[in-house]
Amino acid sequence: MTPASPPRVRRTLLYMPGDSRRKIEKAAGLDVDSVCLDLEDGVAASQKAAARETVRRALAELDFGGSEVLVRLNPFGSGGEADDLAAAIAGHPDGIVLPKVESIDALRWLDAQVTGAEQGNRWPPGAIGLIAMVETARGIVNLKEICGASSRLQALVFGAEDLAGDIGATRTADAWEVFYARSAVVTHAAAFGLQAIDMVFLDYTDLDGLAREAAVGARLGYSGKQAIHPAQVAPIHSAFTPTATAIAHARRVVDAAQAQQSAGFGAFALDGRMVDAPIVKAAEVVLARARAAGIDA
Ligand code: COA
Ligand code: MG
Repeated sequence: MTPASPPRVRRTLLYMPGDSRRKIEKAAGLDVDSVCLDLEDGVAASQKAAARETVRRALAELDFGGSEVLVRLNPFGSGGEADDLAAAIAGHPDGIVLPKVESIDALRWLDAQVTGAEQGNRWPPGAIGLIAMVETARGIVNLKEICGASSRLQALVFGAEDLAGDIGATRTADAWEVFYARSAVVTHAAAFGLQAIDMVFLDYTDLDGLAREAAVGARLGYSGKQAIHPAQVAPIHSAFTPTATAIAHARRVVDAAQAQQSAGFGAFALDGRMVDAPIVKAAEVVLARARAAGIDA
């Protein structure tokens, strides 16, 4: 397998139902990192075939500007996934999102199909990335195998609503009932060099609540968050873009650490607080995220 090209920044991943040409057109005009045309739960069972056709045409006809274009399939084993993939692949999307990934088999199947399509169409190998949604108890338990299943895998997405349903939890605003899984996803993503995209905030009229939940996700280590409405794009975008203050502080820490290392010190004081290797590493992550967001840091 050829290694996938480096992933782009994915702070906001905005879904819209694949059978809504209007919403797809709307999304194409937005300044959003990733647009995801959904063939799964945002589409009624009776509209699946129509949605595939709408997605196929939209990919061929619309200009999504600088946004990454993704298509979400129905899950592996649902019976719809092969037709979904055929419709998506015809439009050469930037990536495929596979929901309810529970085992290595799902990603192996998808990787083989995408590889076959790239070869058949003489497209550059590895250009179509994969994103796995982990949102079931089995998916959480099998995270390690899932993360290593395909060299095309670029990101994990955490699905809190599906997970809560699967484990019998009741969703609450502070999300403690899904905390183990939310933390497991971001930790496995980091272990395998993948991005981690946090849960959906359903109340799209509550932008303060969204900002709070996005800030928690960013503090947990997530690199982005799913969105379901255009109004959610700006708050999420800002929660996952390091602030000027955070960047300036990170730069000071990294510069000071370099000077201290040269002078022979691994641990030192800065503004009355100890700085050593893990603090420097965290500062480097802030700078890397800023650079990924196009900021000169
Ligand atoms: N992507 C692109 N455009 C969207 C959008 C989305 N996810 N959600 C809403 N819009 C558009 C609407 O079309 C509307 O524009 P218009 O008046 O020019 O048609 C505008 O934004 C305002 O929408 P609003 O009236 O506030 O919402 P709505 O009642 O049309 O839709 C939802 C509400 C929840 C049904 C809609 O936001 C939606 O479909 N979200 C995505 C659902 C989905 O994909 N779920 C599966 C993944 S979790
Ligand atoms: Mg889901």
